[in-house]
Amino acid sequence: MSQEKKSADSIHICINGERERLDIEPGETLMASLRRAGHYSVKNGCDEGVCGACNVILGEEGLTRSCLVPAASCDGDDVMTVEGLLDDDGRLHPLQEEFLERGAAQCGYCIPGVLLSAYDLLQRDTVPTEEAIADALSGNICRCTGYVQQIEAIQAAAERLPDAEPAAEGEH
Ligand code: FES
Ligand code: FES
Repeated sequence: MSQEKKSADSIHICINGERERLDIEPGETLMASLRRAGHYSVKNGCDEGVCGACNVILGEEGLTRSCLVPAASCDGDDVMTVEGLLDDDGRLHPLQEEFLERGAAQCGYCIPGVLLSAYDLLQRDTVPTEEAIADALSGNICRCTGYVQQIEAIQAAAERLPDAEPAAEGEH
């Protein structure tokens, strides 16, 4: 984070590996700045930190509700949106494939935030239990799916990822 943040009317951030300048309005949130710059996968669900639709992975802070973060505080930071899940050839991440395969997305509005919550979980826990997944999704509101397919999709994706390890006996 830079010393210039408070007075900046623009910031530079690295979005999904690409350096970008964001113009910011006074008091604007990171969510608002990202959306104004065309990063519409960062959804505005509630604008008050409740629904998780605006989730991004923000530098060392990790999973973050971008509607609660002043854009001016993010100068120099790395930001990952759901597009960052794609590999270098533009192929979907196993999480995205499993969501599609299992009908875990309906209207889709919550999905970028849900996928980033799942991605954040799998960075910390390569063999998550159903309870761990439900806990990870507890900050995401989905009004369509009831979460069951989402939890199944996350478990299936975890099993496909290279770091997945067999669960120890009694762990589930
Ligand atoms: S829009 Fe940020 S938590 Fe709902
Ligand atoms: S798929 Fe519609 S809100 Fe989750």
